[in-house]
Amino acid sequence: MRLRDKVALITGAGSGIGRATALRFAQEGANIVVVDINDDAGAETVRQVRAAGGQAAYTHADVTDPAHTEAMIRFAETTFGKLDVLFNNAGISHARDDDAINTELAVWDLTFDVNVKGVFLGCKYGIPALRRAGGGSIINTASFVALVGAATPQLAYTASKGAVLSMTRELAVIHAREGIRVNALCPGPLNTELLMKYLDTPAKKQRRLVHIPMGRFGEATEIANAALYLASDEASFVTGTAFTVDGGITAAYVTPE
Ligand code: NAI
Repeated sequence: MRLRDKVALITGAGSGIGRATALRFAQEGANIVVVDINDDAGAETVRQVRAAGGQAAYTHADVTDPAHTEAMIRFAETTFGKLDVLFNNAGISHARDDDAINTELAVWDLTFDVNVKGVFLGCKYGIPALRRAGGGSIINTASFVALVGAATPQLAYTASKGAVLSMTRELAVIHAREGIRVNALCPGPLNTELLMKYLDTPAKKQRRLVHIPMGRFGEATEIANAALYLASDEASFVTGTAFTVDGGITAAYVTPE
């Protein structure tokens, strides 16, 4: 088992990438702290992990709130004794996120609160816990949009993911000598709730698919497998990376017909 006896905290684990990763990490022997603001969804993830024979516990935390974030880290240590893996994965993509002219300030602020401040607070309270465990792995979910621009604008989201990526690099450098690795995951467009609620017609889906060399959306489980590698000791010399799992989208100029 690749994560035997490790304790992993996953934010946004009630859905999509977070839930798929909770299930995958648990299969590999980790104890999982499931964090979300949607309590029913978080409880369902715990149920699924336990039904598959794994160990998991849920705690409610809004990653934008320092008191909640501090408490979720404490919960990991009191419930499972330590923290080895911190997956700052919770993120939002706002329906009214648009170009510079049309994006409201409130949309910009909310997006940055969850996507950027949430990662910062996870690290602020999580890094001391990783130190107490003698080192560990932090994975921050950025996106392929941190690497390439799109004509279908979502300026706040794109800028927030750029911030996650640059924050990840600096954290990696600062903490490299204390055995804490920090990597960003850059998923391509996925077949999850976050994206599919916007791509709700075949034409909207096709507008995106034409840019993906593999010609399909990714699955949350494919991102979970990448997170598993970054979380495990197999990635012991890997830090500061923008780990791209995107069906080739960022490598493409023209895609196959
Ligand atoms: P999702 O919408 O399926 O799941 C996100 C989860 O985060 C939900 O359970 C939600 O309740 C939770 N959440 C939202 N705000 C929160 C907060 N303030 N505190 C705690 N939990 C909160 O999304 P998905 O697709 O699994 O996305 C996960 C991450 O992957 C996000 O950071 C997203 O930006 C990123 N991503 C997603 C892509 C996609 O195509 N779906 C592509 C690239 C990156």
